[in-house]
Amino acid sequence: MPGTPEARGSRNRARLGYRLRYALRNPGRVVPYARRAARDGWLRLKHRGSHVAYYRAVMASDTARSPQAATGGNPSQERWLEIGRMQFDYLLGHGLRPEDRMLEIGCGNLRAGWRFIRHLEPGHYYGIDISPDILIEAKKTLVRYGLQDKVPYLTPVDDLRLDFLPDGWFTVVHAHSVFSHSPIEVIDECLAHVGRVLAPGGFFDFTFDRTEGTEHQVLREDFYYRTQTLVRLARRHGLEARFMDDWERLPHGQSKLRVTHGTPVPHHPAPDPDPEETA
Ligand SMILES: C[S@@+](CC[C@H](N)C(=O)[O-])C[C@H]1O[C@@H](n2cnc3c(N)ncnc32)[C@H](O)[C@@H]1O
Repeated sequence: MPGTPEARGSRNRARLGYRLRYALRNPGRVVPYARRAARDGWLRLKHRGSHVAYYRAVMASDTARSPQAATGGNPSQERWLEIGRMQFDYLLGHGLRPEDRMLEIGCGNLRAGWRFIRHLEPGHYYGIDISPDILIEAKKTLVRYGLQDKVPYLTPVDDLRLDFLPDGWFTVVHAHSVFSHSPIEVIDECLAHVGRVLAPGGFFDFTFDRTEGTEHQVLREDFYYRTQTLVRLARRHGLEARFMDDWERLPHGQSKLRVTHGTPVPHHPAPDPDPEETA
């Protein structure tokens, strides 16, 4: 069916059976996983009740070890460059222009952001992130690529209400590998507010970890959603979400949705057509 993703699988990574099979196939990963699970357990306890505070602490711990791995799980510089380029080339292919005004949600250490900043006019890039540690790394990336003259904004946030940003300003909003780390309340909050800052005709692209089976999460770090759950959530906030088939062809494990303003609902019901005119 056009626009419908092919089944990616119904694996439930939270199930004990899945984890045992994975451990048998990857014995070298058992100890690092156990260490991560213990650290995350402690951080969850410390930041009970706030996913953002918990995930910010995860980012602080991961960034201290490797900013590259903190944003992509893979410490290699080649992979960091490759995934950044993939995001940039994709949007360029979809018509990203220097005059666009871009908001990147969860910009990390500017893996893709430095390319967006280089492409856009000065002052046209706005990056936000919950992690001050990764934003300090983002500033280092700016310096490394000599992008000071592009005067991008980089701002730490506590939530995704976007209340400090102007109405109808951003023509492109981008969030790569952010909702794959977000519980549904965080995504809901973002979708409730992103429409206000989105310019008419603008779009919001985000990636997510897709499952065709039961929705689940692992260590409150990785969240797996069905496409329809997110499409419905967007609709509840008056937005349309479209599955991006062309992104599926790229070597990236996540899927992508594009959100736009929904078709405006008329305030007054349209009058019935004049039978004489339509005859
Ligand atoms: C896997 S990294 C990806 C970073 C960047 N988008 C990239 O592609 O390199 C996820 C980033 O999203 C940030 N993040 C997670 N939840 C967030 C939220 N609710 N609001 C803003 N940023 C968030 C993290 O701090 C981290 O920098």
